Amino acid sequence: MMTLVNGLKVAYKDEGKGPPLLLIHGFPLNRESWSKQVEGLSASHRVIVPDLSGFGASEAGPGLTTMKRFAEDLFTLCLQLQTGPVVVVGHSMGGYIALAFEKAYPMFLSGLVLVSTKAGADSPEAAQARRETAKKVQAEGIGSVVEAMAPKMLAATNTDPHMAQAVLDIMWSASPKGVENALLGMAARPDERECIQDIRVPTLVVTGADDIIIPPQESVAMADAIPDAHLVVIPHAGHLVAFEQSIAFNAALTHWLAAHPSAAMAWSSTTPTTQP
Ligand code: MLT
Repeated sequence: MMTLVNGLKVAYKDEGKGPPLLLIHGFPLNRESWSKQVEGLSASHRVIVPDLSGFGASEAGPGLTTMKRFAEDLFTLCLQLQTGPVVVVGHSMGGYIALAFEKAYPMFLSGLVLVSTKAGADSPEAAQARRETAKKVQAEGIGSVVEAMAPKMLAATNTDPHMAQAVLDIMWSASPKGVENALLGMAARPDERECIQDIRVPTLVVTGADDIIIPPQESVAMADAIPDAHLVVIPHAGHLVAFEQSIAFNAALTHWLAAHPSAAMAWSSTTPTTQP
C-alpha cells in the first residue's frame, strides 16, 4: 500500500487484526526484512510495516533525516491508519528510531522491542566515517555500502546462499539519496544511554549471539539500564536476527507479548474509535 506522509510517498504493509505492532527496519534495508514476522504474527496482531523514507519503495526526503524525523513520519502514519497506541519493534537503525519515538510520543507506545541495536551515539570518528561514506554514496551510488555490510548481516557460520541473496536484494532496493540521508541522520543522533533509564513501557531487548555489527554486549547494557527490560539472546544469529532465525525470534516475541497484556489492553481501550 502507498500513502502520503509529510509530503512524501510511503510504502507500507498493514496486515492482520489485533493489538498493533509497528515494525521498523534497519539500514540499508526495507520492510521485506520483516517478511517472516508479518507471516508469523499477523494471525494474532495487526502488523504495520513501512519502508522508511528513501528505502524500498518509499520516497527519499531532500536532506539529512534525523531519527526524530523518521519517528515523526511513523507517528503520522499511525495516526492516518488509526492504530491507537502501538508496540514499536525496531531493528538496529530502526531501534534508534524506536528510541526517538519513545521520547517524542510515550503516550502512543504500549511496548518497546529493541532488536540488535544500541543506545549510544556514534563516536566522533564513527560519525566522520559515516559523513565520508555519505559523500561517496552521493558520488558513486550505494555499492560500497552494500559490499561492506552484506557479509556482516548474517552469522559467519550461515552458508545458506538463498538467504544471503535475499539480503542483497533487500539492500539493493535502497535509493542513494535515502542511504545518504540516513547516514547523515545516524551520525547526528543523540546519546540515549541516560534517557533509556526513564522508559516506562514493557521492553524486550533481542540480539543475535553472533552479531558483529552491533555486538550483543550493547543489548546487555540496554537491558540492564531499562527498568524491568527482558533480554533474549538468540543463538546462531547475526545482525539480521529476526530474518535469519525467524522461528526463534517470533517465538520470543510472541511469548513476551503474551506475558505483557498491557499492550493488548491499550489496543482494546482504543478499539471502539480507532478500529473499523
Ligand atoms: C543497521 O543495521 O541499521 C545499521 O548497521 C546501524 C548502524 O550502522 O549503526
